[in-house]
Amino acid sequence: MSKPLDHFHFKDGFLSAEGVSLVEVADATGTPVYVYSAQAFLEPLRKLGAGLRGVDHRVCFAVKSNSNLSILRMLAAEGAGMDIVSGGELFRAERAGVPGDRIVFSGVGKTPGEIAAALSYDEGRGIFSFNVESLPELELINAVALELGKSARIALRFNPDVNAKTHPYISTGLKKNKFGMDRREILSIAAQVDENPSHYRGISIHGVGVHIGSQLLSLAPLQDAFTRLRELLGEIERKAPSIQLEFVDLGGGLGISYAGEKAPSIEKYCALIRKIFDPKKAKRPLKLLIEPGRLISGNSGVLLSEVLFRKSRPAKDFLIIDAAMNDLARPALYGSHHEIIAVEKKKNQGTKKKADVVGPVCETGDCFGENRGLGAKIEAGDLVAILSSGAYGFTMSSNYNSRPRPPEVLIQNGSFEIIRERESYDDLIRGETTGKMKG
Ligand code: LLP
Repeated sequence: MSKPLDHFHFKDGFLSAEGVSLVEVADATGTPVYVYSAQAFLEPLRKLGAGLRGVDHRVCFAVKSNSNLSILRMLAAEGAGMDIVSGGELFRAERAGVPGDRIVFSGVGKTPGEIAAALSYDEGRGIFSFNVESLPELELINAVALELGKSARIALRFNPDVNAKTHPYISTGLKKNKFGMDRREILSIAAQVDENPSHYRGISIHGVGVHIGSQLLSLAPLQDAFTRLRELLGEIERKAPSIQLEFVDLGGGLGISYAGEKAPSIEKYCALIRKIFDPKKAKRPLKLLIEPGRLISGNSGVLLSEVLFRKSRPAKDFLIIDAAMNDLARPALYGSHHEIIAVEKKKNQGTKKKADVVGPVCETGDCFGENRGLGAKIEAGDLVAILSSGAYGFTMSSNYNSRPRPPEVLIQNGSFEIIRERESYDDLIRGETTGKMKG
């Protein structure tokens, strides 16, 4: 199970990763800054590989969780594929050198332009699969492919109607959610494609996928979803004999520990997958795809910030820091918990005092943690680290309050590299004009 401090340790009294002190990073880049550890990304990826060894599989990293080019390139060099959800993520995958046959394209609202770009990806070879979420989407992909004289590889996304028991905003596998299609819709589409091969010349269905939500802390809903998916495979082949399924995409969603929650281990997750999709028991061996995001990136990064002021009140203090909700939106958006610690070890020790850790944005929701028992010695000028910020951190950042977004730094092999520069004020207004209208 991945924990906030697995890859960030105190060394010589200061928080460090792979032997590099975060103070050294902050001195070089200023704050706020996202700091990642390469090993922290690679370890879960390798564990997944070990857990599925001997099974034909591909780990497709969910790019939405962390889309920095250096991170994508590093993961691709380890054999990872990518789960993308937009033309922008496809562009990033291309810049990171990810081969098309390792890319799956998810999402309920693909546009004609995005579909055409994916069909033409990798010098026209296209991508491994479009994970299709509705009949109109299938028709559109078919039409775009025919126009380009190509054939799109398709997986149908199944909505198994299971409760992932996670935050409602990130639960995706219930009937009431916009995602995927139920059993009847999938079987009817499969039959329709089977019966009208000349109409569907632009597509070929090769897989079925499922993704029920994110930050799952129990394997039970995944077990339900996978079992229902397995049953569906047989039904599809019976109803639509011309469809030859060659893979299943089991989505992402495995949770991590942010604040001591118990998340299932990678070993148990892989054992569950192996049990349900045992190649020895299958009529035909199926390739297995998984789309983890948070599991790989979540505890691989921290957001490093400097305390601007300690504002003392009788009931509690406010630690006002230079990072804000525009840099890391998760606490404001979902009420998510991120541990916050001082970078200097001794500032975490001794007397604790209740404090709210807040940013400078003009909203009460700009709060990273309420009533935290933090070291009373933490004061203006000290560095704090907001832990577990590697997933859905930078990728969900914005320029709200016209704040330039922070840089990103990767620590690897005992040194660090700036893998994204801090935005400038000029970046903030790029593409804007002062208008031609006289007023
Ligand atoms: N595959 C699909 C089709 C997805 O929609 C997602 C996430 C994933 C894979 C990766 O899920 P993961 O392994 O990271 O749980 N912004 C939210 C999380 C949104 C997740 C959306 N879909 C957060 O900060 O918690």
